[in-house]
Amino acid sequence: MSFDLNCPVCLQPLQGDLKHLECPERHSYDAAKQGYWNLLLANQKRSKDPGDNAAMVLARRQFLALGYYQQLADTIATRLAKRATDLVTPRILDMGCGEGYYTQRMEQQLELHASGYQLAGLDISKHAIKAACRQSKAVTWMVASGARMPVADASLDLMTVLFSRLMPEEFSRTLKPGAELLIAYPGDDHLIELRTQIYDEVRHSGFTPESVLADTFEHLATETISYQFTLPTPAQIDQLLAMTPHGWRITQAARERLAELQQLELTLDVRLASFRRI
Ligand SMILES: C[S@@+](CC[C@H](N)C(=O)[O-])C[C@H]1O[C@@H](n2cnc3c(N)ncnc32)[C@H](O)[C@@H]1O
Ligand SMILES: [Zn+2]
Repeated sequence: MSFDLNCPVCLQPLQGDLKHLECPERHSYDAAKQGYWNLLLANQKRSKDPGDNAAMVLARRQFLALGYYQQLADTIATRLAKRATDLVTPRILDMGCGEGYYTQRMEQQLELHASGYQLAGLDISKHAIKAACRQSKAVTWMVASGARMPVADASLDLMTVLFSRLMPEEFSRTLKPGAELLIAYPGDDHLIELRTQIYDEVRHSGFTPESVLADTFEHLATETISYQFTLPTPAQIDQLLAMTPHGWRITQAARERLAELQQLELTLDVRLASFRRI
């Protein structure tokens, strides 16, 4: 089942088949050969190649494939599927889905527990969406801007935003009143052992989604997902570093310090917060 999309130019419904879509005003779109839709307009790009670049996507894909975040992904996917079971033909969007690691797990859980659902993954990075196409054929993948999504007003039943930017106005426009928004973001202790190695002073982000979303969302609950895992080789420590923003900020001295480590025990500390569109 594919997702109902709207034209990014005029926001009217797109119709067609798996290869071609067109709106009533004859704006038309062809599916890329990998199967995704490119619905990002040139004037929505702030740079030539927006979002995560090819190297960042590859680093994330390689690290996630090691399986250390699987327990996290399974918890998120289970929570999402549980909410979807109570809904009739739910339309679900994973905003900022990256290379689709979590989206694909959601699809597996939805398949087991929900019916009549439509699941889409949206990201502004074409490198991420190209990689996502290899994860699942059952998800509608699109390159689009989260700040102006090609979906109708009040048409979504559930949205997930995992480690991606919150865009409250557009989330409010597209979610139905009463619909749920599920967001994941790092807790204060997330990868604390790595951050301690990198920074002289470890800072907390101070991020409070409750305040960012307060105008149009009611905060329902925040769950902490926390466990330890050990990276057993310097190569895997490197792979984690390449995936995180710390990898771009690290000094040469800290990089050399880290390179000495033969293994690294780490804390995963993630907040999973749910909100209801008022
Ligand atoms: C930290 S990654 C998270 C990816 C994925 N959710 C995960 O957890 O593996 C953030 C993602 O947001 C995307 N992104 C950045 N700005 C965006 C925008 N304006 N609209 C949609 N996606 C955006 C990036 O390309 C990147 O894939
Ligand atoms: Zn149109």
